[in-house]
Amino acid sequence: MVDEKKDKEGEARHSFFAKQLLIDSARTAFQQIAAIMRNVSLYPEDHPFLITSADKLRKTIEALLLGRKDVAFYLVGGELFFETLSVPIEQSLTVLLEQFAARDIGGIIFQPGLTSLELSRFAGLMSKDPSLFGSAGGHAAIFAKQEITHIELHRVLLTEKKVAGALRGGVEKSTEIYQDALNAVKEMVQSIHLDKTANLRKINSIVQAMVDNVLDNRDSLVGLTSLKMYDEYTYAHSVNVSILCVSLGTFLSFDKPQISILGACGLMHDIGKVTVPHEVINKPGKLTDDEWEQVKRHPVEGALLLSDTPGLSKLVMVAAYEHHQHGDVRGYPKVEGELKQHPFSQIVSIADAYEALTAARVYYSAQMPPDNAMRILIAKRGVAFNPVFVKAFVNMIGIFPIGSLLKLDTGEIGLVLHQTQDLMRPRVLLLTAFDGSELNADAEVSLLETAGGRYKRSVAGTIDPNAAKINLKKYMT
Ligand SMILES: [Fe+2]
Ligand SMILES: [Fe+2]
Repeated sequence: MVDEKKDKEGEARHSFFAKQLLIDSARTAFQQIAAIMRNVSLYPEDHPFLITSADKLRKTIEALLLGRKDVAFYLVGGELFFETLSVPIEQSLTVLLEQFAARDIGGIIFQPGLTSLELSRFAGLMSKDPSLFGSAGGHAAIFAKQEITHIELHRVLLTEKKVAGALRGGVEKSTEIYQDALNAVKEMVQSIHLDKTANLRKINSIVQAMVDNVLDNRDSLVGLTSLKMYDEYTYAHSVNVSILCVSLGTFLSFDKPQISILGACGLMHDIGKVTVPHEVINKPGKLTDDEWEQVKRHPVEGALLLSDTPGLSKLVMVAAYEHHQHGDVRGYPKVEGELKQHPFSQIVSIADAYEALTAARVYYSAQMPPDNAMRILIAKRGVAFNPVFVKAFVNMIGIFPIGSLLKLDTGEIGLVLHQTQDLMRPRVLLLTAFDGSELNADAEVSLLETAGGRYKRSVAGTIDPNAAKINLKKYMT
């Protein structure tokens, strides 16, 4: 029995590492495609630089070909997939995805027998005018003419179908994890109210699931944080802050155990609010001095609640105590002398401020557009917030985060799906056509797309989804 369990664990670990290795090789191949495409515009076909970069790529693909009949990459919604594995790529490589998208390429398949010369010829074709692929029999005719016989391209639409199932699975998983986290926080708050010992240990496992999910695919869980809910706001706030913390930890390449602690810090930061009367927490108007004093006690109360919880890192308590202790005058609890916030508390502060600013809280009549919230964070960096973390946060979320609604200069409305290398030009799903009618078909475009040397679409402003009566949930789950 025990052995069987061990075997299973061993197997799981093995497949985890095997998967990571595969993702790494796929990423390497893609980086090498980028390198060869850079070199092809600089050097002639027989230049040693070009030959070397083509050789490197061929070797990587040959290694991937072992045990496979072909090596297939898919480009879906601004993301790179190797078979059905999502391959995280650095910002700088997204430009390559744009190049493929501009040629209506949704998939590249390499077959055994591939030569370095074919690879450099393929790169050469890719560096030419995108319209070339659409003309005279498409890429197949051009490939045949140039004797490229071991590379096959798929159009965007064909591959969308093939990988859509895998993608949807990811979103479903994220939604489930989000709901679990929400329930765990709710359960905990209730048990504290009932004076039962809260099952804080559960927090660790919830955070673990979040960390794994974010590591797998950062976008889908982060996308869910933009769905601000009136009814369950208090709980959703904690879950959202936690997801933002986990994502920033991942973005900053922290170790996995550290990211988990950071996630728990985010989830528990406001737990002290359970001691503040409900009417005060949810009061729509301005608080009286006395009420404000009660609210300001939540960091201390939170730290006390968390102080002797077995199995929970002490940093979770520290972050609960310090998360409002940022450098600006409104920070609390007040301390004598120099203020020293733990880096984790600094991260929680930023995630907390951003989440609260963009929330559809009872205090605000409308949700603040994310770009305004970003501007406030940027304006306060160095004063209230650690400037390095703010910079990383902005780079991670983008100026227009996933899930925000944009008014485009064409009159269309777009929902942000992915960031690109230009933070002002994300990929969007067009929700309404020029005349304001809702589109049924998926129309995903990148704001990087150009026509005649000019951008086809640019951001003209952001839209409050509540005011526009658009149900975002429909698109994101
Ligand atoms: Fe707080
Ligand atoms: Fe908070």
